[in-house]
Amino acid sequence: MLAHETLTEPGSTAAGLMELEEQYGAHNYHPLDVTIARASGAWMYDVEGRRYLDFLAAYSAVNQGHCHPEILRAMMEQAQRVTVTSRAFHNDQLPLLLRDLHEMTGFDMALPMNSGAEAVETALKMVRKWGETVKRIPAGKTEVLVCANNFHGRTISIVGFSSEVQYRTGFGPFAPGFRAVPFGDAAALRAAITPETTAFLVEPVQGEAGIIVPPEGYLRQVEAICREHGVLLICDEIQSGLGRTGRLFAFEHEEIRPDVCIIGKALSGGFYPVSAVLSSRAIMGVFRPGDHGSTFGGNPLGAAVARAALKVILDEDLPARSAELGGYALDRLRRIESRRIKEVRGKGLWIGVELHGPARPLCEALKDRGVLCKETHENVIRLAPPLTIAPDDLAWGLDQMEAVLSGA
Ligand SMILES: Cc1ncc(COP(=O)(O)O)c(C=O)c1O
Repeated sequence: MLAHETLTEPGSTAAGLMELEEQYGAHNYHPLDVTIARASGAWMYDVEGRRYLDFLAAYSAVNQGHCHPEILRAMMEQAQRVTVTSRAFHNDQLPLLLRDLHEMTGFDMALPMNSGAEAVETALKMVRKWGETVKRIPAGKTEVLVCANNFHGRTISIVGFSSEVQYRTGFGPFAPGFRAVPFGDAAALRAAITPETTAFLVEPVQGEAGIIVPPEGYLRQVEAICREHGVLLICDEIQSGLGRTGRLFAFEHEEIRPDVCIIGKALSGGFYPVSAVLSSRAIMGVFRPGDHGSTFGGNPLGAAVARAALKVILDEDLPARSAELGGYALDRLRRIESRRIKEVRGKGLWIGVELHGPARPLCEALKDRGVLCKETHENVIRLAPPLTIAPDDLAWGLDQMEAVLSGA
């Protein structure tokens, strides 16, 4: 019999739970030794009741803070009405989300999915079909340019154009039709475009690569090159979007307008996987009934949650908070004198501290001091707290970082 009368099991210890996970779960992650049992705002609590300041925000899925009461209320109300209809029928939440997305972002239309990777796949299908039907690229010949050191998810087609050896090794054969150019190099993009190039896919700030901010003016040049060659510009804002960099979208820092924008993560405030592709009527119009779909994509529970999550971003002006708190954090981190630090960089409350050595031991030391963050690549500590974090809490977390970074 399965023991599921209550959410927790009496007597569960972190060690016991970790052992279960080790024994019965695939080993595709290497988490820190901490077992979270609940969370609220910027704070998380482990099974033994110790509290930790969250400096990761689930890779920006909880920009609104953990268990935000307004999103929780929407989720609970909707869960008692109807959760999933499939898109065989209309539901009374999806149209409202689509309208909200249009009003908030200015894009004509949206196509909702679940995970970020699914939304990326959706965008890729869309631009391929646009390439064949509108740009008249011969069938099966469309090419999408991507960036070196990209991260767009873990499906086979996406890892197929990753430059990260571990993401690819053992998972081929891969889909053709993708080619990488260096990130931050507009001339290289221009040189790589051919008549068969249908789109260029880029993260406005590369997240998983280590919070890499491209040179000033790069995105403006990229937009101009894409327009000149009739190439669609796709910005993957799954991690950088929805307030993280101090603007609603990171592409706004350069006042550009991509043809396609992909969002996920904070679109649901971390309650539920909700992602979406945003675009114009002319581009999204290539999809016909039967071309694409998802059982859960656009479901009323996800739509209600996403509407509430978007409202929190607006009501609490999270982009402005990110800009202000990020400026403070960046300044403090840059003042730290430590032989360990190679570079501190970021946009808004999204900062990478690149070290000369491995970041993991420092993340472990931070955990022992009550701050949770995770290394990205070998040697970068990523700082991405919920954007609702109280300034005093942020200051305390930075004190801990300072202590760890300036330690021997
Ligand atoms: C820029 C970017 N794109 C796509 C993804 C994939 O999203 P998901 O993990 O929800 O599939 C991520 C996840 O970290 C991301 O950072």
